[in-house]
This record gives sequence, C-alpha cells and structure tokens, in this order.
Amino acid sequence: MSDKTPVLLGMSGSLRGGSYSNAVLATLREKFAGRADLRLYDLAPIPLYNQDFEGDKRPPIVQKLLADIAAADGLVLCAPEFNHSIPGVLKNAIDWASRPAFTSVMAYKPVAIMATSRGPLGGARCLEHMKVALDSMLSRVTLAREVIITGAETKIRDGRLVDETSLAFACGAVEALLTEIRLWRAAEAARP
Ligand SMILES: Cc1cc2nc3c(=O)[nH]c(=O)nc-3n(C[C@H](O)[C@H](O)[C@H](O)COP(=O)(O)O)c2cc1C
Repeated sequence: MSDKTPVLLGMSGSLRGGSYSNAVLATLREKFAGRADLRLYDLAPIPLYNQDFEGDKRPPIVQKLLADIAAADGLVLCAPEFNHSIPGVLKNAIDWASRPAFTSVMAYKPVAIMATSRGPLGGARCLEHMKVALDSMLSRVTLAREVIITGAETKIRDGRLVDETSLAFACGAVEALLTEIRLWRAAEAARP
C-alpha cells in the first residue's frame, strides 16, 4: 500500500477576507501537517457554470480545477450557510466538477464536509444540502460526527478555530477522511 502523504484539497464556501470557513480549513491544515498535505484551493477565479462549455470547451481554469481534484486523494469542504443552503461559490465549483454525470472526478472521491455559521442554529441545513449534492455525484462523504460550527464568531480567533470541542469534531472528520483514503489505497493495491 502506498504511504505517500495524502493530498487533500480544502475548499471554502466563502471568498470573504476573514472568513470563518477559511479559518477552519487553515487550522486543519496546521493540525494535520506532516500527515496530510491540505491545500487551500482558491475558488475565486472559477467562472459561473455554463453547460455550453463542457468537455474540451471548459475554460482552462476549470480544466485545472478538475485535474487538481482528480489528482487529490480527497476533499475537505467547509462552508457557511447562505440562505439555508450551500453558498454559490462552492456549489458552482462542484457543479463544474460533477460533469460528466456519474463518471466525473467527483465520483467515488472521498470528501469530508463541515459548515460554519454566526448564528446559534445555522449550518445544519447547509451540511444536509452538501450531502445531497455530493450523493448525486457519487462522492463518498465520509461518516463522522457532524461538524456544524455555530456561533463561529465566538470560536474563531485570529483566523484560527480555538474552540476545543469544535476542533475535535473537525479533526475527527479529517481523521475519518484519512481512514477512508487508507482503505481505498489498500483496496486498490490488493486488486489483481
Ligand atoms: C447571503 C447570506 C446569507 C446568509 N444566510 C445565512 C443562513 O441561512 N444561516 C446562517 O446561519 N447564517 C447565514 N448567513 C450568515 C453567515 O453565516 C455569516 O455571514 C458567515 O460569517 C459567513 O461565512 P464566512 O465567515 O466564512 O464568510 C448569511 C450570510 C450571507 C452573506
């Protein structure tokens, strides 16, 4: 079995400087340094999805997005809840990546998901919608305790997640993702 350090792409649903979701991903990158190469992916340059530009007609930046996802061992998606759902910036990226349907780079890709919110209740709906969307593209959403970081403004300081309980949940989700990747690699290596 390959013991190469797993490459994880961290994608945030927010482009905001000082984003809580970006802070969660930055914290996880540091926590897993040495065990996983968690790269924070910039979704700002990704254009809006247009079905007229699929296959060879995809814009080069989208071709790169798909190639990067294909080459990665797994994804870590962290998003704020926007109007009870997935923010457009992240949904747009995974819409591009979901084509062609059922055989895309998202199919069977191990994915950890987490949501943040300033409010006391938000995040849960976004997380559910992420699961539904990822199911539709056959991604393997890793099973872990649900990571919903409510009241994010009280748990994130200086761009890092400092609340111990939330951090334990978020780390648990990445651990589950790494386990999934290990199992996947072992299965691949055992294939005749
Ligand atoms: C367009 C918009 C819609 C929002 N809708 C929700 C929502 O449905 N539920 C919620 O808990 N927070 C909602 N919020 C508040 C966000 O959770 C909050 O702005 C958060 O800090 C944004 O994430 P970020 O820090 O990663 O940029 C909304 C914010 C915006 C800008």
